[in-house]
Amino acid sequence: MKLKIIPSESGKSADKAYALFFVKQSVQFSKVLTDAGSAQVETVLKGIKDGPFEDLELLEIDGDTTLFVDAAKERGLSSLDHLRMAAYRLAGRAMKKQISCVSLFLADAVDEQFKAILHGLYYANYKFDAYKSKQKENFAVTYEIVAGEHGASFKKIAEEVAVEQKAVTLAKNLINTCAADLYPAEFVERAKTIVKYTPGLSIKIRDMKQLEKEGFMGHVTVGKGSTRPPFMVTLDYKPAKYTSKDHLVIVGKGLTFDTGGLCLKPAKSMPEMISDMSGAATALAAIQAIATLKLPIRVSAVCCLAENAIGNQSVLPGDIFKAKNGKTVMVDNTDAEGRLVLSDGLAEAGEIGATHIVDLATLTGAMVRALGYAVAGFFSNNDDLALKVINCGEACCEKFWSMPLEEEYADALKDKFADLKNTGSDAGAISAALFLQEFVPEDTAWAHLDIAGTAFVDKKWKYTEYGATGFGVQTLIELAREMSAAE
Ligand code: BES
Ligand code: ZN
Ligand code: ZN
Repeated sequence: MKLKIIPSESGKSADKAYALFFVKQSVQFSKVLTDAGSAQVETVLKGIKDGPFEDLELLEIDGDTTLFVDAAKERGLSSLDHLRMAAYRLAGRAMKKQISCVSLFLADAVDEQFKAILHGLYYANYKFDAYKSKQKENFAVTYEIVAGEHGASFKKIAEEVAVEQKAVTLAKNLINTCAADLYPAEFVERAKTIVKYTPGLSIKIRDMKQLEKEGFMGHVTVGKGSTRPPFMVTLDYKPAKYTSKDHLVIVGKGLTFDTGGLCLKPAKSMPEMISDMSGAATALAAIQAIATLKLPIRVSAVCCLAENAIGNQSVLPGDIFKAKNGKTVMVDNTDAEGRLVLSDGLAEAGEIGATHIVDLATLTGAMVRALGYAVAGFFSNNDDLALKVINCGEACCEKFWSMPLEEEYADALKDKFADLKNTGSDAGAISAALFLQEFVPEDTAWAHLDIAGTAFVDKKWKYTEYGATGFGVQTLIELAREMSAAE
């Protein structure tokens, strides 16, 4: 896909062209056409009646055929998400019909709308066919953006969206890659490559020996059952100058596969567990983008990598270990492994000086049952951070719903022998969050994002085909942007 931002109308180079009109409510269609001033569009529109249009109409022009696509078909989407969808469908059609040039008349659009449209175009270009015996190239479409007076701001937005979408693609590719090809050590290699090509990023890698030496026993406990050993990777982004005193640390659950361990998962729900490293992939992708965009804020990403497998060294139900912060934990269920590696990630965040921690994890089936695939639940000990998560999510069409850290359920985490156990009350998502809270460093703003439902979809959803959605990447970038601007 190629982008050209032009100040006035064009589209002349195309043998066939599509046009996406951004139409202000109650504006007469004929008036918009006159404003756009495209003779080509006027010809195609012969026969179409004038009339007031909705906020947005997607117009497909293919030779003599003209049809309108209702951009507001999906229920529950924000108006920006409708725009993403409309652009996604437009790009899909352009590729399918092999239309080399598409003109988008966006002189009336504001920055956020242009950004949404661009994201939609990019989503249409994503495919994951690495495992197919034959790969097909997407048909290359050039999009001419008729920007009117917005030329300069649209150009800047186009650069930002390119960086954001590169990160979304990175996360999706990592998540979709099967566990035979993406295991903890391989994830480390991918992270090293990213650091090599991203100025401003540095990396610290701990292998199992080092983890054990430093007392990061959550990783060791979960990862020791596999022939593919665990790692903790800390990426650090230090901008040349920063305006914010905050240090945001993103902690990601990175289970490259989760069999459930000796508390084995049922066969039906297991293949999807290639996505149990979505939190770590999202953290890695976000910090890559944040560094590339040179946002003026300190950001780190801690990827908690392990494979939850069955072996003769696997943790046994009833085993007790001492976590990094000194608390002892009884492993009641080996399938509740995410919270164990995250206890180390949270401790590491504290050690490197986090003022704000956001952890992301495909943590509980309970969250999938509570909110499904369209909304992620989150928990926070800080109202300001919680509001930022919701608002930043909304700005990039990712929905978050605030869940309670209900103290009443905390007792259920107490163990008879150890300080804690890794299972709690029937409120599974809340119990997991309360467990994590036990490991949050003091005086640190913290938000826990349970992305179990939203990270990976088993059927087409919005602009995502089967598989990884990349959910969370954009919200994290937006959060870093917001935090760096706030001071
Ligand atoms: N990785 C799973 C959670 C999950 C489920 C993610 C479905 C994505 C889709 C997690 O490690 C897990 O198995 N959690 C258990 C915890 C329970 C044993 C306390 C769960 O939610 O069932
Ligand atoms: Zn599990
Ligand atoms: Zn898991």
